[in-house]
Amino acid sequence: MNGIVDDYRLNLGGSEYVPIIVGGMGVDISTAELALEACRLGGIGHISDAMSMRLADQKFGEKFTKKKTARYIDTKDLMDKSTVKFDLEHVRRAQYEFVESVMMRKQGPGSVFINVMEKLTMGAPADTLRVRLSAAMDAGIEGITLSAGLHMHSLRLVADHPRFRDVNFGIIVSSVRALKIFLRGGARVDRLPDYVIVEGPLAGGHLGFSSEDWHEYRLEDIVAEVLAFLKAESLDIPVIPAGGVFTGTDAATYLAEGASAVQVATRFTITEECGLPSRAKQRYLAAQEEDVCVSEVSSTGYPLRMLRESPCLGSNVAPQCEPFGYVLDKDGTCLYLDAYEATGVDANGNKLPVNDRICLCYHFAKMNCYTCGHYVYRLKDTTYQNEDGSYQLLSAEHVFRDYQYSREHAIALPGRLL
Ligand SMILES: Cc1cc2nc3c(=O)[nH]c(=O)nc-3n(C[C@H](O)[C@H](O)[C@H](O)COP(=O)(O)O)c2cc1C
Repeated sequence: MNGIVDDYRLNLGGSEYVPIIVGGMGVDISTAELALEACRLGGIGHISDAMSMRLADQKFGEKFTKKKTARYIDTKDLMDKSTVKFDLEHVRRAQYEFVESVMMRKQGPGSVFINVMEKLTMGAPADTLRVRLSAAMDAGIEGITLSAGLHMHSLRLVADHPRFRDVNFGIIVSSVRALKIFLRGGARVDRLPDYVIVEGPLAGGHLGFSSEDWHEYRLEDIVAEVLAFLKAESLDIPVIPAGGVFTGTDAATYLAEGASAVQVATRFTITEECGLPSRAKQRYLAAQEEDVCVSEVSSTGYPLRMLRESPCLGSNVAPQCEPFGYVLDKDGTCLYLDAYEATGVDANGNKLPVNDRICLCYHFAKMNCYTCGHYVYRLKDTTYQNEDGSYQLLSAEHVFRDYQYSREHAIALPGRLL
């Protein structure tokens, strides 16, 4: 037997943690409240900086999105968005205000990290990423998890920041190949990652596998390959599996085999602290296995695991680059722009549904994209169904403790609310 998660500890940057990391879930699905709970309980919680300007508008009364929309009013009906850029000072302020507000509320022995996706290229990939990373460090973040990209040059962007060697930097990879690329980039600034998250094919969000081949990979194999590679290179870096770790026993098995912690997310999507709207939480709880797909609709070009009935599918919303534009590359292109342009109109001149892509910015902002881990259909086994057919939500503490103490794949049900 491999014991329970609580038999193990993660040692990172001189601190000791319960080896449970709640993964970043973009556009405020992993809210400050969720991250702070994981931290209070001795683990690590992630916030995410996806669409940080919009978050700052909602949380701090800023008007960044409105100002950007007004500035680019002239490109609204054009498909050439090459002039649509973020104001870097606004990006900095949004990030700083958000991170600082979370860090000020921090309690307990754990930590709060931030998930930073490279694929959010924001019209000027290097400049905006540099500002996002520096502002998070300025505001006191304890760790930065680099995700959704190879991040070959990301560390170099902030190598002269005073906190560059004291903040924990981690990378999410899905193969040894991707890890080697990141390590080569880090070597140029003499910086190894402090931890490596190995995300397998069952994870939620964007995947490092295609919609056709994800079945052919197994997280346990990739973790074993990464552990063997690091050992062969004499690199002592914590390895953290993610994707489909559903029970405490799943987690303890990885820990017994040499992992240092696990990163989990899907089980927290049905907690009170999670930022999804309640209609989405209930949809996740009601999901059956056949409702889950790995889709190619994301305008990032990465496969995305989601529920087939997500409201974003088949939408014909006009591209929202002026208010948002988070997926625009340096030339002002985005896969949704191309798909929108190529979609015709009906006999009355109305735009037909765009079926092959979604405007990620618009639909993530509206929480219309029900991204989830493969095991979303097992969530119903973790709680009670009410008489009206809805399900009882959980507290983040309940789910965290269940991972920490569960034995033999048992899942503790919550106290029943009558
Ligand atoms: C709703 C949801 C949103 C996610 N969003 C992101 C994200 O914005 N960035 C990222 O790097 N990973 C994202 N992920 C992946 C998680 O951080 C995590 O690594 C993974 O889902 C763990 O697998 P599990 O969900 O099976 O526990 C997301 C996962 C879910 C379920």
